[in-house]
Amino acid sequence: MSAQRILVTGGAGFIGSSLCERLVQQGHSVVALDSMFRGDEANLDGIIGEENFSLYAGDVRDVDDLDACVEAMGGLDIIYHLAAINGTKWFHEAAHSVIDVNINGTLRTLELAMANDARYIFASSPEAFGEPDSQPITDGDKMIFSNPAQHQRHSYGGSKYLGEVASQHAAREGLDVRIVRPFNAYGPRLCGDDYGQVIGIFFQNILEGADLTVHGNGSQTRSFTWIDDVVDGFVNAGEVNSSPNMVFNIGSTEEISILDLAAKIAKFSPSGAEVVHGEGYFGDSNRRLPDISRAVELLNWHSKVSLDDGLQLMWDVLTT
Ligand SMILES: NC(=O)c1ccc[n+]([C@@H]2O[C@H](COP(=O)([O-])OP(=O)(O)OC[C@H]3O[C@@H](n4cnc5c(N)ncnc54)[C@H](O)[C@@H]3O)[C@@H](O)[C@H]2O)c1
Repeated sequence: MSAQRILVTGGAGFIGSSLCERLVQQGHSVVALDSMFRGDEANLDGIIGEENFSLYAGDVRDVDDLDACVEAMGGLDIIYHLAAINGTKWFHEAAHSVIDVNINGTLRTLELAMANDARYIFASSPEAFGEPDSQPITDGDKMIFSNPAQHQRHSYGGSKYLGEVASQHAAREGLDVRIVRPFNAYGPRLCGDDYGQVIGIFFQNILEGADLTVHGNGSQTRSFTWIDDVVDGFVNAGEVNSSPNMVFNIGSTEEISILDLAAKIAKFSPSGAEVVHGEGYFGDSNRRLPDISRAVELLNWHSKVSLDDGLQLMWDVLTT
């Protein structure tokens, strides 16, 4: 693909920063927009200072900030919209902000794409399916949400669901839209604090000499996808020629229970961390396994890095 002018919202975050690195390496002009809510400038150390990259600290809901990013590049060809409030603890504690940032950020960036006739890649989530009644999660499955009086978890999944509705509506109106659903990405920059994701938290526990707490009995399963594979998925989805149904599940099909994951990660502990059980979040999903057939067929994508190799790679980076 010839050099494009690309806006990456959430570009200082976990996935966004690696995506920016890849796009800069490919020779595109890239602006990362991030409010630094959970982003970190250090994630971009490898490309800050590159002529074809700049970081803009701003809010994805603010049209002046979005316009400033476009102005900095002298136009806009592609938006990768990743800015969102992510992290399970936030879904429960800050549902209002999750809904506000995730939905309004998507609407504003869709409007920006339409105004510039730019290609739009939306970072959705398997959580857009809510509590699906079958696995693997296949496009076309029903998206099912429980009553919000029970719990607030779906502040996030609901926002991704509506993001897909808005993106599909824009596609019907003629915008070139692609939807990517990453399944549990992991890598060295993954957030490991209380608001982070499970692999980041487990490794952080080990670095602090703490035990690993599994929510409930740990029989819930996930499919963890190495960061470089996830970035491949985003880039391939951004580059592929447009055709109907540009919606891609990007995830490993290697399924593991959280209990087994904890046992695997505990083995890295020099001090012999134990796996203990604690209370989980109400509404947490039991299983999240992707059907990746469309990504295989149209993007020639499948995950390449096994969980064992990825965990070792992550540990090596965290400890050097
Ligand atoms: N990590 C995963 O496994 C996963 C799975 C499914 C979907 N996703 C989606 O992929 C995208 C990237 O996820 P991530 O794991 O890198 O999360 P992340 O939290 O590291 O990245 C999101 C970025 O958005 C920024 N942000 C938050 N509010 C903002 C605002 N108002 N204006 C501008 N920037 C703002 C944050 O500071 C952060 O840097 C998100 O949309 C997320 O929902 C991620």
